[in-house]
Amino acid sequence: MILTSIINIVYIVRRSLATHVIDNRTQTFLNSLEENATIKTSKKTISKTDQHFERTYKTFLHSFVETYVSTTQNRTITLNYCPPVPPNLQGSLVVNNVPDNFSIATNSSYYPNVELGGHYHPTTCLARHKIAIIVPYRDRLDILKHFLYHTHQIVQRQQLDYRIYVCEQAYNKTFNKGIVMNGCFKEILKLQPDTPCFIMHDVDLLLIDDRNMYTCPIFPRHLSVAIDKFHFYLPYTQLVGGVLAMRREHYVLVNGYSTNYWGWGGEDDDMYARIVNKNLKVERPPASVARYKMLKHTHQKLNPSRMKVLRTAHIRIDSDGVNNVKYTLLNTTLYHLYTHFLIDVGEEPK
Ligand code: UDP
Ligand code: BGC
Ligand code: MN
Repeated sequence: MILTSIINIVYIVRRSLATHVIDNRTQTFLNSLEENATIKTSKKTISKTDQHFERTYKTFLHSFVETYVSTTQNRTITLNYCPPVPPNLQGSLVVNNVPDNFSIATNSSYYPNVELGGHYHPTTCLARHKIAIIVPYRDRLDILKHFLYHTHQIVQRQQLDYRIYVCEQAYNKTFNKGIVMNGCFKEILKLQPDTPCFIMHDVDLLLIDDRNMYTCPIFPRHLSVAIDKFHFYLPYTQLVGGVLAMRREHYVLVNGYSTNYWGWGGEDDDMYARIVNKNLKVERPPASVARYKMLKHTHQKLNPSRMKVLRTAHIRIDSDGVNNVKYTLLNTTLYHLYTHFLIDVGEEPK
């Protein structure tokens, strides 16, 4: 009985490892286990010493099987790194319409390889970059759908370990992008403390060239250089609005975004002031690659005091930002294609 199970276990191990290469030593070892077991089956009577031997043998065999199988399973995390240049990039892209049956509320058959919460990592190689895509959001559902439909496929071709976070400002109050981003940054680090790279991404921008890598180089990198709305020209060299990639430590160093901009404009110019003040540089990919289509959207209320607030940017850096942001997290929901944070930014001061 015991001996038959030894043979069975060896057989199961062989079967379960059939898709893996078994090295010579393991092969010899498995052979010897089988041989031993066969010899013992041919004996008519089994002495007490033999029974003791079999019990020890069985315990040993179990632990061997467990160790071997778990080592083999762990091989998935000892895969080779993905190539430095992802091999399946397409370059210039067209923007397709969202199919009628594409839903972001339920599981999407368009992205079966995305895990709950909008997480993906390549399975044939080890991603070189782990990133979080932070999308500030409110009341632009069709645009959000288009963004998710379009963007997942691109970052998958870039072979990144990524997760998309949609950070929604709750209620119909004046939008405050700085509070939304800082709150979201903190919540992401609670969920995924080892996230090293953050791509801050306006929801209405669709990347139209997948060579624009969503990674974090040594300096903050402004990725939305050439937008169709601006005729594919950067409006001014200090602009960091749209899509901005920043390492976690740089975001902390500049104290994130200012929380003092209510309504449209200025918070990104304030971020630029923070970056240069902390002796970082803003780098950019070539305009021939960093290209975006901006989806049409309604315009938010202009902030009339944005220039006045911007004038004091340099003196507020360490006292106004992610280190003291006030917000309330109302909800966290894991949808198939994104993680959703619902954030109350509080009242705009009168
Ligand atoms: N946003 C939003 N709803 C709003 C206001 C802003 O979703 O009511 C987010 C969205 O990600 C948008 C970004 O904030 O892309 C920047 O705001 P907006 O598009 O109004 O400014 P623009 O960059 O077009 O000047
Ligand atoms: C605003 C920025 C905006 C930029 C481009 C500037 O005047 O202050 O917030 O991103 O224009 O639209
Ligand atoms: Mn916009």
